[in-house]
Amino acid sequence: MDLFEYQARDLFESYGVPVLPGIIADTPEEVRAAAERLGGTVVVKAQVKTGGRGKAGGVKVAHSPEEAFAAAQQILGLDIKGHVVRRVMVAAGARIAREFYFSVLLDRANRTFLSLASVEGGMEIEQLAEEKPEALARVEVDPLTGIDAAKAAAIVTAGGFPEELLEKVAPVIERLWWVFRDEDATLVEVNPLVLTETGEIIALDGKITLDDNASFRHENHSALAEAGDVDPLEAKAKASHLNYVKLDGEVGIIGNGAGLVMSTLDVVSYAGERHGGVKPANFLDIGGGASAQVMAAGLDVILGDPQVKSVFVNVFGGITACDEVAKGIVGALGTLGDSATKPLVVRLDGNNVDEGRRILAEAAHPLVTVVDTMDAAADKAAELANA
Ligand SMILES: Nc1ncnc2c1ncn2[C@@H]1O[C@H](COP(=O)(O)OP(=O)(O)OP(=O)(O)O)[C@@H](O)[C@H]1O
Ligand SMILES: [Mg+2]
Repeated sequence: MDLFEYQARDLFESYGVPVLPGIIADTPEEVRAAAERLGGTVVVKAQVKTGGRGKAGGVKVAHSPEEAFAAAQQILGLDIKGHVVRRVMVAAGARIAREFYFSVLLDRANRTFLSLASVEGGMEIEQLAEEKPEALARVEVDPLTGIDAAKAAAIVTAGGFPEELLEKVAPVIERLWWVFRDEDATLVEVNPLVLTETGEIIALDGKITLDDNASFRHENHSALAEAGDVDPLEAKAKASHLNYVKLDGEVGIIGNGAGLVMSTLDVVSYAGERHGGVKPANFLDIGGGASAQVMAAGLDVILGDPQVKSVFVNVFGGITACDEVAKGIVGALGTLGDSATKPLVVRLDGNNVDEGRRILAEAAHPLVTVVDTMDAAADKAAELANA
């Protein structure tokens, strides 16, 4: 889960990372009031979970509460890369002398943690890595020892920070590591980490990604998630403990096992090329050993997506028994009654397949087509979505 900047700011503060005062606001009036409370120059910042807000006009300096009000009018409602701004943070204005970059992240390819540091802050890190790779230090972080004082100093030095800043920057980096470690994050990024004209080091912008697999041991994380603009279908799926990801296409997909579902997405995309370019509408893995109830919950989520035109249920029975899947389909269609209007293509194979097919044949539901192979079923589902 990605956090909003203001949530990252709050976490930083609770770990003793120096940040500026910030107040969240949802209307121009609230922004004006926040600017009055903070006094002086403020910066109105769009709170959306995507980068490049500044370039898109989502970060504006205001020298008075009235200017802040006007900035908020421009920023609220703005569409930044598909994210509509519903909330801003009014931050105290900093007098910036220099902008740096620091991050620590999970390096999946090398099975370790990695920290990145640079004195070329402010600009997007992807751009920096491309244009000035020599200005971006990469320092491996051993998960067992993490970033202690010595490691922090090594990172600061590798990043090319001026020597006289070492003692100020290193402790901040150590604390950012504590955030990363203790919150079970996979990314903590500060861009820019600034040096102010009065010589202070401050985290001016923060990005944090938390590892959802560790959320069970963090009571505070569910509150952070609730503030997010989660897709309503994803929220519904989550409530039923389903692994669901909404995509852009028209063919709803349900399968058991992440690998099978991913290859199903591939065959449907491929089949879609023959049928008007239709694409998968989602990823949904009902997991191994799924019961009829889980199958029904999955169908309920997918059929609730207005973009879905047809559904492909692709199950290879291993631990999951095909008869359970068939019962789930028949049960879900029974519950939905007349409100079920979208065609279902079902391909079952493996454990108890004969019983599963018998249940579907006996129900003989007009919306259900049983197809024996994965490729033929994908083709049928794409054809129906394009009809
Ligand atoms: N509180 C502040 N005071 C003064 N200047 C600020 C403040 N916050 C941001 N800025 C300036 O605006 C620039 C962009 O801000 P920020 O890094 O928060 O947004 P961004 O980089 O555009 O967004 P993202 O990080 O999502 O790409 C900063 O590099 C900094 O120069
Ligand atoms: Mg930034």
